[in-house]
Amino acid sequence: MPDQPAQPDPCDLRLRHPTRQLSVRETFGIATNMTVPAFAERDPHVPDIDPAYCFDPAVTLALLAGFAHNRRVLLQGLHGSGKSSHIEQVAARLNWPCLRVNLDGHISRLDLVGRDAITLRDGQQVTEFQEGIVPWALQRPVALVFDEYDAGRPDVMFVIQRILERDGQFTLLDQNRVLRPHPGFRILATANTIGQGNLNGLYAGAQRLNHAQIDRWNIVATLDYLPPAQERAIVAARVPALGEAAQSALLEAMVALAGLTRQGFAAGDLSTLMSPRTLISWGDNIAIFGDVGQAFMLAFGNKCDAAERPVLAEYFQRCFGRELGIGRAMSDAGVKL
Ligand SMILES: Nc1ncnc2c1ncn2[C@@H]1O[C@H](COP(=O)(O)OP(=O)(O)O)[C@@H](O)[C@H]1O
Ligand SMILES: [Mg+2]
Repeated sequence: MPDQPAQPDPCDLRLRHPTRQLSVRETFGIATNMTVPAFAERDPHVPDIDPAYCFDPAVTLALLAGFAHNRRVLLQGLHGSGKSSHIEQVAARLNWPCLRVNLDGHISRLDLVGRDAITLRDGQQVTEFQEGIVPWALQRPVALVFDEYDAGRPDVMFVIQRILERDGQFTLLDQNRVLRPHPGFRILATANTIGQGNLNGLYAGAQRLNHAQIDRWNIVATLDYLPPAQERAIVAARVPALGEAAQSALLEAMVALAGLTRQGFAAGDLSTLMSPRTLISWGDNIAIFGDVGQAFMLAFGNKCDAAERPVLAEYFQRCFGRELGIGRAMSDAGVKL
C-alpha cells in the first residue's frame, strides 16, 4: 500500500504566523498609536513574561520596529543595562519564539550551519546532516538573538553576514540546498561595543567588527544606564524587600552610589563601575545579610582594586552619611567570615 501523505503537524512552528495586532500603548505603556503583529498562541520557545519589567520607550520602539517591519536591530550598551532582557521581554509579550545564541569563543561555524552526524536508523548507522542553529531558526518564525555579538569569532561572523540581508537566503553548501527565510524570522543582536574593539579596557575579548557587517544592521539602538527614578523602579521590582515605601530612602542612596561609581569610572578614579545587574545583586545581598555596607562590598566593593577602597568608602559616606564599616556588620549579623 502506498504511504499516506503525512498530515501537517499543528504544533509545527513552521506553519505559524502572527495573526494578531497588539496596541503598543496598551502592551508596553508607550504613547504611540503603533500596533505590532503578535502570535495568538505561546510556544515553548517564547520567553516567560516578567510582569515587573520596565521598558525603555526608545529601545522598545526600536525593537518593535524590528519585529513589525523585519528590520535587523542591533542593541548596544554598557554591561548589565538590560539589553538581552529587553529583547526577551518584548518577544515574550508578542508570543514570538526567541532563540538566544551567546557568541562566546566556543560557538563555531559548524554549530551555526550544521554538521554530518552519525545516527541510528532502523538499527543501521547512517551519516546524516544535522541542521545547525541558523538553518533551523531561518525556517521558522523565530527571533534569533546573537548575544555578545562583538565577541564572535571572525569565521562565525561571516556566517551571520549572509543572513543579515532582509531576504537573506542561506545556502547549505554541503547539501546543495538554498533556504528561504520564514516570513516571521527575525535577527537581533546585543553588543557592549559598537565594533571598535576594547577601547576603554572594560570589554576584554571584544573584537573589532568588519564595517561591511555593521552596515547591514538596519536599526542600531543604544541602551545605557537609565535615569535614577527608573533605576529605582527596576531595583524595587526585582527585590521586593526593598520596594516598600519605608525603604525608598535606602533605594535612593543605593542608586546615587551607583551613579557616583559611573562618574568615578568616567573620571578615571575607579577601574570598574556598578551596573544595574550589580545594583540588583546588592539589593538581594541586603535581603540576605541585613547590612547595607556588607552587602555592598560583596556585590561590588570586592570587584574593585584594594587601592580603590578609600574612594568607595568616600562614596558610601556621601550617600549614606555613615562609615562603610565592613567587619562589624558581618559579626553583628552572626555571619562567620
Ligand atoms: N528595564 C528593566 N526592568 C527590569 N529589570 C531589568 C531591566 N533592565 C535590566 N534588568 C535586570 O538587570 C539584569 C541585567 O539585564 P541584562 O538584560 O542581562 O543586561 P545586558 O544584556 O545589557 O548585560 C537582569 O536581571 C534584568 O532582569
Ligand atoms: Mg546580555
